[in-house]
Amino acid sequence: LEAAMSFSPEWLALREPADIRARNAEVLQRVAHYCSGIERPRIVDLAAGTGSTYRAMAAHLPPGQVWRLCDYDAGLLAEAKKLLPEAAIETMQVDLFKDLGMALDPRPDLVVTSAFLDLVSGDWLDRLIAELAARKLPFYAALSYDGRAACDPPHRGDKAVIEGVNRHQKTDKGFGPALGPDAAVEAATRLRAAGFAVAEGRSDWQFTQQEGLVQSMIIDGWAQAAYEIEAVEDELLSDWAGFHMTRIADGNARIMVGHIDLFAVPA
Ligand SMILES: C[S@@+](CC[C@H](N)C(=O)[O-])C[C@H]1O[C@@H](n2cnc3c(N)ncnc32)[C@H](O)[C@@H]1O
Repeated sequence: LEAAMSFSPEWLALREPADIRARNAEVLQRVAHYCSGIERPRIVDLAAGTGSTYRAMAAHLPPGQVWRLCDYDAGLLAEAKKLLPEAAIETMQVDLFKDLGMALDPRPDLVVTSAFLDLVSGDWLDRLIAELAARKLPFYAALSYDGRAACDPPHRGDKAVIEGVNRHQKTDKGFGPALGPDAAVEAATRLRAAGFAVAEGRSDWQFTQQEGLVQSMIIDGWAQAAYEIEAVEDELLSDWAGFHMTRIADGNARIMVGHIDLFAVPA
């Protein structure tokens, strides 16, 4: 759940432990089971960043995997190349808004993505589903934001700020008006309507009080989004941010951010 359109490798690295912990084990197990009979499976990772999904999944899939990591950010793909075994990955720099088909051909055995569907528009999601259906491709989408977010301890500004963040999430992130908090529900609903069998489960970020840096970056991002979208008066926003930053610095804060994982298999 980010306000910005570009993603630094530092931020992706910071969120990765929470992502790995949050991934829904049952959904991941279904993907693993589906792939268990496939020799040397070929996997396409849409908006792969630095390869977080590879690190979360590789151990659950058969050996000899070949991954095609697709992203439009050359810097993130270069970082992925440094971090991952050379024989297991190829990278493709591609703007998925323009050239989605390029990423999906030649046909892989599985398409995956994570922390991405909330950035795309409903129209683009429909295009993706049509391309998946045409190729009869199974699709694992992890960590789509679902609009739920909460801070413990709470502040009187939380509701208005989070509502503002959710509105900001719906602004254009390069794919037309983004689904933002509706991404998780829309993806499952539209995949089912297209004839996919969909399994889904929660994959919420549940931070611990010790995770100060990542939580402070979330508050920072939310404050910026709330400011840009004029969610609350400046005075309340700075009181809100100060309150949460102090609790985080004192080791007393736990933020929750709701996500959904899904695995969709074509009929
Ligand atoms: C929140 S990050 C998730 C990265 C990775 N999947 C992970 O879980 O760490 C979103 C990713 O979408 C990529 N992205 C955004 N718009 C894109 C586009 N139009 N084409 C390709 N990649 C895009 C960004 O570069 C970034 O790597």
